[in-house]
Amino acid sequence: MSEKKIILTGDRPTGPLHLGHFVGSLQNRVKLQSTYKQFVMIADQQALTDNADNPQKIIDAIFQVLLDYLSVGIDPKQTTIFAQSGVPQISELAFYYLNLVTVARLSRNPTIKDEIRQRGFEESIPAGFLVYPVHQAADITVVNANLVPVGADQLPIIEQTNEIIRSFNRIYGPVFNEVEALIPEKCDRLMGTNGLEKMSKSLGNAIYLSDDADTVQKKVMGMYTDPNHLRASDPGKVEGNPVFVYLDVFGTDAQKIQEMKDHYTRGGLGDVVVKKYLNEVLQTFLEPIRARRKEFVGNQDYLRTLLQQGTSETRAIGEQTIKKVKTAIGLTYI
Ligand code: TRP
Repeated sequence: MSEKKIILTGDRPTGPLHLGHFVGSLQNRVKLQSTYKQFVMIADQQALTDNADNPQKIIDAIFQVLLDYLSVGIDPKQTTIFAQSGVPQISELAFYYLNLVTVARLSRNPTIKDEIRQRGFEESIPAGFLVYPVHQAADITVVNANLVPVGADQLPIIEQTNEIIRSFNRIYGPVFNEVEALIPEKCDRLMGTNGLEKMSKSLGNAIYLSDDADTVQKKVMGMYTDPNHLRASDPGKVEGNPVFVYLDVFGTDAQKIQEMKDHYTRGGLGDVVVKKYLNEVLQTFLEPIRARRKEFVGNQDYLRTLLQQGTSETRAIGEQTIKKVKTAIGLTYI
C-alpha cells in the first residue's frame, strides 16, 4: 500500500459555507493542496438524505459552495473539485459496504445520533440518512484517500470508515488503506454567534463567508457575550465568550487581544468596544475572500466546466476502484 497522501473531503450543499466551515476544514484544504493530491467533493447526494422533498435547495447551493471554495483560495489547478452525484461508483461501492455494517452500529454513531435529534426525526429516520456514513466511507475510499481534513464532529464517521475498511480487507483481501482524520490545531469546532456550541445554518448562528460588510457588522454587534457583564465596569468572562473565541481564531494582533482580555476580565471594558474590534478583524479576514469571489461570480460557464472536468476525472478513478473491488470480491464473471 502506498505512502502517498491523497486527501478527500467535502461538504453538504445545503446553503453557503460559514466561518465554522473555514475553521473546521477549508483552511486545512488551502494549506495542504500544494503538497498533496486533493479531492474536494460537493456532497449533493448526502445533502438529499434529509432534503428529499426539497431538491431545489440543494441544487441552488451547489454553485454557492463552489464559489465559496474558490473564494477562500481552493485552487482548481491543484485541487480536483467534483460533484458526488456525478460519480456513481461511490454509490456502487457503498452498496457493498452496507453489508459490512449493522443497523445497530449505525444508530450508535454519535454524529448521526446528534443529527437525528437536531432534526427531530424520532422514529421516521430516512433510511438513506441513517446509512450516509457508509456512503461517506465510499466517498473517501473511491479515490483511495488516506487523509481527511474535517471538523471534530466528523470523527465518528472517520472511525466508522476505518471499521468498514478493516472488515473489507479482512474478508476480501487488502484493497484499501486506512484513513486518518485531520482536525484543526487551534479550534476544532467554532461556536455560534449566540454562544451555542456549534456554528450551523440550522441554528441560525452563522456568519457566512459570502456575507457583505453590513451583514457581518450587524451579526457581530448582536453577538452573545458574557450575560453577567451588564455594565462596562463589571468584570467579564473571556472563556466561552464567542467574541473572544473569534478574536483568538481570526485576530492577528495577539498582544492587543491579550490586553483586551485582561481588561475585560478586570472590568472596565465594554462589549461594544470589543465587538467593534472584532468587526474590524473579521472584515479584514473576509475582504480578500470577497475580492476573489468577485472574479468568479457570474461566470457560470467557467464554474460548470470546472465541476464537469473534476467530476469526470474522479469518475475515471472510481471505475478503477470498482474494478479492484469486484475482482477482490470475485465478481469477475461479467
Ligand atoms: N458529512 C460531511 C459534513 O457534513 C460532508 C462530507 C461528505 C464529507 N462526504 C465527505 C467530509 C467525505 C469528508 C469526507 O460536513
